[in-house]
Amino acid sequence: MQPKSITVYLNHEPREWRVHPNDLLLNVLREHEALTGTKYGCGIGECGACTVHIDGEPVLSCLTLAIACEDKSILTIEGLARDGKLDAVQTAFLDHSAFQCGFCTSDMILMTRALLNEIPNPTEEQVRDYLRGNLCRCTGYASIVRAALGAATQEANAIGAADA
Ligand code: FES
Ligand code: FES
Repeated sequence: MQPKSITVYLNHEPREWRVHPNDLLLNVLREHEALTGTKYGCGIGECGACTVHIDGEPVLSCLTLAIACEDKSILTIEGLARDGKLDAVQTAFLDHSAFQCGFCTSDMILMTRALLNEIPNPTEEQVRDYLRGNLCRCTGYASIVRAALGAATQEANAIGAADA
């Protein structure tokens, strides 16, 4: 199969990729872009470790062909902080120590970011439901849920302060 040149917008920058039709997005990110914050867990869509955003939606990069990302915006954990400032979700994960080994942390943060973009003030049940496809072997999830709820509160307070 012949490779094809495509343009993607990776972490806010245009990139030219030369990809084969069967190249997985996860492998292109990790092996060609050296963006190893996106993890290879199961490789079959069951753990969530490979989560990235495409055009603002969370997707599993182990099940996504790179060639299908032509002209799309891809966000990995490396692109979430802007202008040297952590995203509120990243700050909340630090504040709540919502990690142990850290293997799931990138995907949990990106899923939480997607959740708060969709539902700015989720209930605990909504957080647990949204994150149910992302597995963590270490934390028991309680600190991750607290971090997600804490980030929501922090963002609501920031909006309230800006409106005052
Ligand atoms: S590595 Fe993609 S879901 Fe597990
Ligand atoms: S912190 Fe280890 S898998 Fe989640």
